[in-house]
Amino acid sequence: MRQTLTEIYEAKVAQGTLRADPAQHAVLPALEGLRLWAEAQGARRQGLLGGLFRKEAPPPPGLYLWGGVGRGKSMVMDLFIETVDSPAKRRVHFHAFMQDIHRGLHAARKREVEDALAPVADAIIRDVRLLAFDEMQITDITDAMIVGRLFEKLFAGGVVIVTTSNRVPEDLYKDGLNRVLFLPFIAMLRDKLQVVALESPNDYRQHRLEGTQVYFHPAGKAKAQMDGLWRDLAGGSYGEPLRLPVNGREVEVPRFANGVGRATFWELCAKPLGPADYLAIAQAVRVLVLEDIPQLSAGNYNEAKRFVILIDALYEARVRLVASAADVPERLYIEGAGSFEFERTASRLREMQAADWGG
Ligand SMILES: Nc1ncnc2c1ncn2[C@@H]1O[C@H](COP(=O)(O)OP(=O)(O)OP(=O)(O)O)[C@@H](O)[C@H]1O
Ligand SMILES: [Mg+2]
Repeated sequence: MRQTLTEIYEAKVAQGTLRADPAQHAVLPALEGLRLWAEAQGARRQGLLGGLFRKEAPPPPGLYLWGGVGRGKSMVMDLFIETVDSPAKRRVHFHAFMQDIHRGLHAARKREVEDALAPVADAIIRDVRLLAFDEMQITDITDAMIVGRLFEKLFAGGVVIVTTSNRVPEDLYKDGLNRVLFLPFIAMLRDKLQVVALESPNDYRQHRLEGTQVYFHPAGKAKAQMDGLWRDLAGGSYGEPLRLPVNGREVEVPRFANGVGRATFWELCAKPLGPADYLAIAQAVRVLVLEDIPQLSAGNYNEAKRFVILIDALYEARVRLVASAADVPERLYIEGAGSFEFERTASRLREMQAADWGG
């Protein structure tokens, strides 16, 4: 029997997998409406009588779900997307989506297409009715200058967009370069999407880590615990690589799911990365699971220096850190050049273990 989203949600509350949250509960009917619409679309497009419906009714407004971290925006959106029975749905992290767009534009320009955005948008319109973005954020001027024209084409092509964001539309690309050129995009979002604030009082991600140990040593003995925490935080997914654009390059977090990144010390600190890379990572993840921090010394000075920058970036962005290391913070770097500077890092590592740490 078909269950509505509200029924599915309530069943999860009854099972104890979710806590009843009135703010989350309140957005479910709107999503259920979109679910019914998307499913009817699929049937109509595939049906023999498809041709009769050429004059389709305009699609319903999409949904822009915004609010503070850990409120359950992604959880609610994923619950919705999973239950939509239609092949014409796509769920993608906004960063990853924009990277695809840039790749598509690049390819189209090579072919000297006049409006390079047209084939890129058409390819989406052909396959997708319901497009769900996680974590819409616009920090980059090239993205800011494209999204208006892109979304205009998508909306004209009948694509319905559902998205999560930490900011109200009016605060997107705040203080960005040439922001006036971006304002019509905000107006378009207001016009095409229902904007809903998820004003839950709870940061559930914080709850998940509350009272749990987040710093483990020695690292070699902590593998199972790290895996267990990852399973819990990533909602059972293995995670996918997250590639972030940094000054025309890409920096990669090897595993990313549900706002949580996972990497080893070596993956982030043994490569020639710099402050811009660590800032991008700190902006993109809410929690970082970082494994195998080794004993540091003058012998691995470069790695240690990068680790200091990484921790500073995570600290500034109030990212939660789950770490496994060779030793307690104060004994990670005890002698040689750089050990004095490391005292601040050690102290930050301590502070970041506090139950109330995080944004
Ligand atoms: N009602 C709930 N009961 C129990 N756990 C919940 C509930 N809502 C969300 N969670 C869990 O809390 C964590 C954070 O939720 P989620 O990732 O959806 O937050 P978010 O609003 O998307 O945060 P962010 O803005 O940081 O992306 C997830 O592990 C999620 O499964
Ligand atoms: Mg989220």
